[in-house]
Amino acid sequence: MPTTLAASIEQAYREKFSHSAELFNRARDLFPNGVTHDGRYLEPFPVYVDRAAGSKKWDVNGNELIDYWVGHGALLLGHSHPAIVEAVRQQVELSTHPGACHELEIEWGERVRQLVPSCERVRFTNSGTEATLMALRIARIVSGRSKVLKFAGHFHGWHDQVVIASEPPHDTGDYTVPGVTAAVMGDLVIVPPNDLKALEAAIDQHQPSCVILEGNGARWGAVPMRAEFLRGVREITQRKKTIFIHDEVITGFRVAPGGMQSVAGIQPDMTSMAKVLAGGLPGGCLGGRAELMQVLAFNNPLGKKMKHPGTYNGNPLSAAAGVACLDIVHTGEPNRKANTMATLLRKGLNEVFADKQVPWVAYGDFSGIKIHPEYHGPRPTGDDFIPYDNDYQKLDRKFDGKLGHAFRCGLLLNGVDWMGWGGSTSAAHSEEDIARTVEGFASCVDLLKQDGFIR
Ligand SMILES: Cc1ncc(COP(=O)(O)O)c(C=O)c1O
Repeated sequence: MPTTLAASIEQAYREKFSHSAELFNRARDLFPNGVTHDGRYLEPFPVYVDRAAGSKKWDVNGNELIDYWVGHGALLLGHSHPAIVEAVRQQVELSTHPGACHELEIEWGERVRQLVPSCERVRFTNSGTEATLMALRIARIVSGRSKVLKFAGHFHGWHDQVVIASEPPHDTGDYTVPGVTAAVMGDLVIVPPNDLKALEAAIDQHQPSCVILEGNGARWGAVPMRAEFLRGVREITQRKKTIFIHDEVITGFRVAPGGMQSVAGIQPDMTSMAKVLAGGLPGGCLGGRAELMQVLAFNNPLGKKMKHPGTYNGNPLSAAAGVACLDIVHTGEPNRKANTMATLLRKGLNEVFADKQVPWVAYGDFSGIKIHPEYHGPRPTGDDFIPYDNDYQKLDRKFDGKLGHAFRCGLLLNGVDWMGWGGSTSAAHSEEDIARTVEGFASCVDLLKQDGFIR
């Protein structure tokens, strides 16, 4: 395996995206690694985008890219949907921050509750990270217990308690995170995903305040979690009187208007949401049973108030975008379209991988597409296929970093902006986009072969 990007991909990339290289030269002494989000780091440099619409974005050289980042999952409707642009345009002239209660926050919250009925009460935050932070603190206040139970590989943001065990390797058992204290580590119970027996045993042993899990499985469904498992978690947590937090930051309003809980037919105790919630602007929320959420209220019957300030909570621009977005999501049409496009793409990619005889496989559910580049097993026969029988240690792995960079560069050279080893569709993706993407993957695989990254 080469240790640096081979000349042909790298050279072509440097030429095609030359203006991005200039911008990166300014950024790299300013931001650590030159980027403002770990996931955007790319070697030899990331692509800088200055315009986006629908399923496309254009870089500073004017190259058109079919986008599978979709705003880190936020843009179910695609970039700059006219209804959202108009709603934000109108609101920006009225007020960007009244420093007061406003009607739009009520309209936004009402839509959340209408689509996700388990959310009897709602509180807006600025991100998904803040929403899961709030959920854990409420669970601790109400239960009087300190431990939190999570599943290995599940991602819930970057605050101390949940950043642990949010990525591989899973085989060493060492989930130490620099900067996170031993006391915080000690408050976490980590259970293998999709294992109800282990969950029940761990609840009995550790008596956690809550169980938190990611919408449809670890890291955007890289280790898929089926509805039966969710129903099992609901049954066990109810029987054991343990608070169940469904982190629907990605799946909320995306997999279906009512999120993964509506697909599984369950009612969690609390739900964290963000991304699609705010229509592409910053925003998150926690919703849940009134009895739990009342901890946020002054003079509540528990006699313990959870403090919750936050300069931008319920920001009117985010509320305007969120209301416009959720009104469209309500129809279910964007979810159906995005899910259908992802099914088409998974199928097309698997045909390419079989045709090119590379040990790669595409899988996933709803609007998510995962690529496993070291797959040696039976080829998929249907769209519900999960490689390696859903063995999380085989699915949720760190793949060759140099190959990862070359793969993304190779796809960008072919007009596709792919998010690491996964991507998501939006309702703006068309069959033509999918066909072009499949062609782009085929050319990219050829480039990777030519440069000796794969055989
Ligand atoms: C399941 C899940 N929870 C929480 C978060 C954190 O959300 P944010 O990036 O808005 O802080 C993410 C982010 O991707 C997520 O995927």
